[in-house]
Amino acid sequence: MTKMLITGGAGFIGSNFVHYTLQNYPDYQLTVIDKLTYAGNPDNLAGVLEKIEFVTGDICDRELVDRLVSETDIVVHFAAESHNDNSLRDPWPFVESNLVGTASILEAVRKHGKRLHHISTDEVYGDLELDDPAKFTPETPYNASSPYSSTKAGSDLLVKAWVRSFGIHATISNCSNNYGPYQHIEKFIPRQITNILSGIKPKLYGEGKNVRDWIHVDDHNNAVHAIIEKGRSGETYLIGADGEENNKYIVETILELMGKDKNDYEHVNDRPGHDMRYAIDATKLREELGWEPKYTNLRAGLEATIDWYTENRAWWEAEKAKVEAAYAEKGQ
Ligand code: NAD
Ligand code: DAU
Repeated sequence: MTKMLITGGAGFIGSNFVHYTLQNYPDYQLTVIDKLTYAGNPDNLAGVLEKIEFVTGDICDRELVDRLVSETDIVVHFAAESHNDNSLRDPWPFVESNLVGTASILEAVRKHGKRLHHISTDEVYGDLELDDPAKFTPETPYNASSPYSSTKAGSDLLVKAWVRSFGIHATISNCSNNYGPYQHIEKFIPRQITNILSGIKPKLYGEGKNVRDWIHVDDHNNAVHAIIEKGRSGETYLIGADGEENNKYIVETILELMGKDKNDYEHVNDRPGHDMRYAIDATKLREELGWEPKYTNLRAGLEATIDWYTENRAWWEAEKAKVEAAYAEKGQ
């Protein structure tokens, strides 16, 4: 058995990673460390908690992290503050969890000589123009826009520095926008689905021309496994599934799939500093590691995601009023 420590395993992507790993990689013995912030929910791991070790704790707690890292073979580091809009309301938790937290993991990995895979985002590269044929590649210069993306960029640079200066065994992946089950309802797609289910109109920032490169969370996670198995130490792999669509298209498609008038949404205040377009060139991942995405039909993926939120009202309903009140304060 290979021991794997997963940080942030009670969040959206981390919990899907736990489920995916248990189903597809039975040779891993899993430990999760999660602070259980507003975004972490042990219910995301319902049914599998007895198969893993779950530790409620903060990755900034260096003593705890040191012990857990000393007991594992590999660390897969998902834990972070992840929402841009929250980073505009209060950047501080982002500095702590994303920068200090990553440094704490790195120091333990260095001390105990363990393997690290660091989960990051395409947002570290800033944004692209709508009419630019370019996509992000591993050579694109870092140019992050928000407190969230800049702390993620900083965390990547910390990993790169620990590789170069101390020779730790680490890989980095920068992925595009994920969707799927267990995503917090503050995020774009689940917010609109749960708005419609709650009798609230979907909310589009600005004109809705901004483009995101959507990928199903299981495709992100199977790419992470490919990198863990075959990735070269010190390398960065970009993960994306050619899923570029603008926000207006996504809102209209969700409305249509839910049997509503596709124009029944409202425009709300735009996000300050709103990145225009993200697009991933995943050639390195595809050619070097032989990875291919499985869930490339976005419409079918949205349909399945709508079904999940419709069937799991108890998972999100208690949070809805609070999330919407926070957005309403900003006219969003
Ligand atoms: P999320 O907000 O749903 O989950 C984050 C998890 O980390 C939560 O369970 C939270 O409790 C935990 N956490 C936060 N701070 C912690 C701390 N100090 N100590 C321990 N646990 C802590 O986020 P997500 O969308 O699942 O994102 C996971 C990772 O993937 C992040 O690193 C994010 O930057 C990256 N990422 C996300 C996307 C996306 O589309 N959501 C895309 C690319 C990369
Ligand atoms: O690109 C990867 C990133 O994707 C991850 O690093 C982040 O953790 C993740 O949150 C996501 O960031 P975005 O800011 O792109 O995602 P969000 O779901 O917040 O918004 C997606 C787009 O939808 C963005 O252009 C803003 C817009 N939006 C968002 C909300 C919540 C709306 O138009 N209306 C909304 O109500």
